[in-house]
Amino acid sequence: MSDELDPRPEDLKQRVWESIQRDELPPRDDRGRMRVVMNNLVLHLHPSKVAKPTLKFTYTWGLGGLALLLVLLLAITGVMLMFVYTPSPETAYQDMLRLQTEVWFGQLIRNLHHWSGNLLVVVAFLHLLRVFFTGGFRTPREFNWILGIILLLLVIGANFTGYLLPWDQLAYWAVTVGSSLLSYIPLIGEGLRSFLLGGPEVGAATLTNFYGLHVAIIPLALMGIVSFHIWRVRKDTLTVPHKLDGTVDGAPDGGQIEKVTTLPHLVSRELVFALVMTGAILLWSLWVNAPLEAAANPDHSPNPAKAAWYFMGLQELLLHFHPVFGAIIIPALGLGALVILPYQHFDLSAEGIWFRSRKGRRMALLAVLAALVAVPLLVLLDEYVLDLPGMLPSLPTIISNGWLPLAALALLLIGYYDMMKRVFKATACETRQSVFVLLVTAFIVLTIIGVAFRGEGMALMLPWEVL
Ligand code: HEM
Repeated sequence: MSDELDPRPEDLKQRVWESIQRDELPPRDDRGRMRVVMNNLVLHLHPSKVAKPTLKFTYTWGLGGLALLLVLLLAITGVMLMFVYTPSPETAYQDMLRLQTEVWFGQLIRNLHHWSGNLLVVVAFLHLLRVFFTGGFRTPREFNWILGIILLLLVIGANFTGYLLPWDQLAYWAVTVGSSLLSYIPLIGEGLRSFLLGGPEVGAATLTNFYGLHVAIIPLALMGIVSFHIWRVRKDTLTVPHKLDGTVDGAPDGGQIEKVTTLPHLVSRELVFALVMTGAILLWSLWVNAPLEAAANPDHSPNPAKAAWYFMGLQELLLHFHPVFGAIIIPALGLGALVILPYQHFDLSAEGIWFRSRKGRRMALLAVLAALVAVPLLVLLDEYVLDLPGMLPSLPTIISNGWLPLAALALLLIGYYDMMKRVFKATACETRQSVFVLLVTAFIVLTIIGVAFRGEGMALMLPWEVL
């Protein structure tokens, strides 16, 4: 082709720009702007303009973005780990040792993967709370909330399947305890457990199954649903933070909310946040090693044998309820409540206001205090005083230790709901929020008791006796 017909521009800056943008620098008119949007990767993820108040960090705390960053970090470090790891009981543990001693930066890559995975569970949960407390799940975002719940379950599934791969004592017994929860599902529980484990107990087939789930099936599902989730955030737009009086920063009289272009206002903030967080995770991983105990020994169970920390709330419930209730009915009720939550009737005017109103904030605080006092008291009562199956020997334990305590707790909750509504003259929306805070705090307290206050034989102990 002769030089005159070569369509490439002479100017190097222009050529570099076009190679990235897939287009010449467009004129600054409406059609030009549209062309930029269509040909720009960032603007496929974000709208071209966002409401200025949504840039405020203390509205989202960057939690959704941080979850995304962690998913990416996990994918990169996970692929690196795959170069060194073979999922077989003969080699898995040796690979871990080799990774830590012989492979360049092997320990660091493992630490990054381990800590990012654990942090992702916490961050996804905190992001769920942020969305709940700012009313981000209401119309038109109900389905994105459901996608979020699926993402949280996938994140927990990814963590649980990855837990087994080092094939040390911690991994082996945490998965043995965790998977035993499945066997309490009536009729199909045992079958489901054997299917997942590839046999009656954790062994070579379990390692192969978990490896497949951990490196292929769950990540593929996670990536697909995360893309869908973020596309929906772009289409539905992010909720706009409002002040307690219902006004928006920059538009106090209810006028037009100021908008700014995504590039550079939002993207520059996202880049700085991503760099700072990557730096923090890197520093932590340089400093704190991921745990690795002795090689797995199926003949020697540690005492106590605990599940992974994010299942300790459930394991604690199992100590107080009939297994079908602790492992299945109560978690299923919690999950069901989360799924139907966005389809309830809600006060739309409170959208974007943290905790809905001043009253909502006071009621939430009260709920935290109530759970902090009531849950440890109930645990102590059940541990040292109350023995329902012993007191009611004629009843089957599923009634004395299942239906009865559940009914008592349900009555307490209804009483709490009624009292809150009447004492505070609150709306249904504020009262439901208070119940939600009570239950979430209760679950967190149960998890802390399970992790830090349960020692040998799962007896209650002080943390320094447990560790
Ligand atoms: C891997 C896990 C997740 C990723 C990567 C992710 C990513 C994001 C991002 C980037 C945003 C926009 C920025 C922000 O709100 O911080 C967002 C918003 C949102 N997320 Fe998630 N998310 C995840 C899990 C969840 C969970 C567990 C839920 C709830 C059950 C959820 C529900 C929502 C909703 C409803 C919005 C819109 C909120 C609004 O407009 O105020 N997400 N998510």
